[in-house]
Amino acid sequence: MSELNLILLGPPGSGKGTQGERLQEDLRLPYYATGDILRAAVREGTEVGTEAKEYMERGDLVPDDVIVGVIGERIDKKEAEDGFILDGFPRTEPQAEALDAKLGELRREVSAAVLFDVSDDEVVRRLGGRRTCPNGHIFHVESDPPEKEGVCDVCGEPLETRDDDRPEVIRNRLDQYHAKTEPLIAYYEDRGLLKRVDGSQAADEVSIRIRALLATLKMEEEL
Ligand code: AP5
Repeated sequence: MSELNLILLGPPGSGKGTQGERLQEDLRLPYYATGDILRAAVREGTEVGTEAKEYMERGDLVPDDVIVGVIGERIDKKEAEDGFILDGFPRTEPQAEALDAKLGELRREVSAAVLFDVSDDEVVRRLGGRRTCPNGHIFHVESDPPEKEGVCDVCGEPLETRDDDRPEVIRNRLDQYHAKTEPLIAYYEDRGLLKRVDGSQAADEVSIRIRALLATLKMEEEL
């Protein structure tokens, strides 16, 4: 495929990060996960991090202008000229429009938006057992435990429960998703770009479905 500009769309805990890590390795494209980028900015105490911190702690979305600037800079980089994988962006209609405008300036467009379909109950179960390291590697105490308890298999850093994985914050993140992000399903469906994946399947099964979907996309482009 000439270039692949891929969006991973779905509720919190639907597996975007888990699949994003795998896709990054498969496709060798830059992977921009806005949650990871913002958490790093909070840790480093940058201007963006300082602005984002309180929104993230509550489970609210950070203001569009903050996150649009962060992603716009990355898409402009040489490393992204063959494509990119976006996880957690766009999350509102103004963000989707800003992304289209940015890509339009570069004479490029979104290739596909992969939607991870997962129920709210499954989200709550998954996020309650999630453990992550500071470098964004993801585990689950039941479905994907690390070899050594509390330690990341990949980088050896300690594993933690994310601050926003507390039950009351999870509830707000889900509310935000339904109110502000779900309208993007229609946005991408109307443009013929939406690809649905049953995110409730086991992670390996979800990976197989996404690979099949990308292979179809490539074939369609070559026709
Ligand atoms: P962000 O970090 O993007 O959080 P999120 O979208 O809520 O997504 P998560 O990271 O919680 O879940 P995921 O879908 O990646 O699932 P995962 O693979 O980890 O954003 C955090 C905050 O930043 C937001 O609340 C907001 O404040 C701010 N923000 C970010 N982007 C923004 C934007 N564009 N605009 C405004 N604000 C923004 O999986 C979850 C768990 O399930 C793991 O334990 C995993 O091991 C397990 N699991 C994964 N797949 C499976 C499977 N198939 N079966 C069983 N278990 C599975």
